[in-house]
Amino acid sequence: MVITGGGGALGSAFARGFADNGASLAILDFNFDKAKATATSFLAEKVKAIAVAADVSKDDQVAQAVAEVVKHFGTIDVLVKRGRRANLST
Ligand SMILES: NC(=O)c1ccc[n+]([C@@H]2O[C@H](COP(=O)([O-])OP(=O)(O)OC[C@H]3O[C@@H](n4cnc5c(N)ncnc54)[C@H](O)[C@@H]3O)[C@@H](O)[C@H]2O)c1
Repeated sequence: MVITGGGGALGSAFARGFADNGASLAILDFNFDKAKATATSFLAEKVKAIAVAADVSKDDQVAQAVAEVVKHFGTIDVLVKRGRRANLST
């Protein structure tokens, strides 16, 4: 699953809920340090997680992020939008 704004307060909370139910996480944020910190905390618990840097207001960055997540996990089953203007559509 992809969580935009995943490095933030609500994004991290959503990530926790989904991880507790077995989800693999793509933590997407335009602040890559925050995304990385969140993803790393889940990796420490053996949850499959990656950090993805993208500004969801930029179509090219969203497309690149989708490609990166699909390459890593094979598909995107769930999208949680906590960042602004998310345009993810797969
Ligand atoms: N926290 C609350 O109780 C609450 C309640 C209602 C609504 N909201 C709204 O929900 C949203 C998230 O709240 P939060 O508390 O998690 O905020 P937050 O600031 O903790 O997290 C937002 C995250 O989104 C990222 N982000 C912002 N714009 C982005 C963009 N264009 N592309 C990618 N990442 C982007 C930021 O880097 C940050 O990590 C905000 O819009 C907030 O106004 C929050």
